[in-house]
Amino acid sequence: MKTYRSILAALSLSAVATLTVSPLALAHGNVTPQTVDTAALPAIKNGPLTVNPYRGNKKAIDVGSAAYGQNCARCHGLGAVSGGIAPDLRMLPTGDDGDEYFQMRVRNGAIRNGVTYMPAFGDIFSEEAIWAIRTYLDSVHQE
Ligand code: HEC
Repeated sequence: MKTYRSILAALSLSAVATLTVSPLALAHGNVTPQTVDTAALPAIKNGPLTVNPYRGNKKAIDVGSAAYGQNCARCHGLGAVSGGIAPDLRMLPTGDDGDEYFQMRVRNGAIRNGVTYMPAFGDIFSEEAIWAIRTYLDSVHQE
């Protein structure tokens, strides 16, 4: 019993140590993705679409901005201004040309040779959520 308890104590100590020494690992991958409330937006019934149905929609910009802040900003930067660990999403091509690629990328993430550079959001986001974020990013676009 005594041994068991000291093993437990050692385990919980190392768990604490792991948590305190790896804030970077947390920043890169272990934050729980947040679902997005899109009730205020017109529902998408015939998806998946290849063109953003919300382009320029102010409500979609608001919903997308909040969703971006909760799910993407930790890697792609607050306000979509990249700090360098992931691409700057203000530079994405706008308009129909970039839409299909955006949807594909957000659904599938970026996983190569078993390494997750970006998690897949396909099982977490509704199509409405993906296009709301796209609409937000279009609104902060820079050449
Ligand atoms: C864990 C960090 C992380 C999170 C969270 C994350 N991304 Fe990424 N994202 C990356 C990295 C790293 C890349 C570059 C991947 C590569 O090397 O292929 C990337 C690439 C992209 C690209 C392609 C950029 C290009 O120039 O081709 C898009 C679009 C994108 N992310 C959108 C998003 C959106 C939208 C969210 C939130 C829903 C998000 N990402 C969340 C790390 C992240």
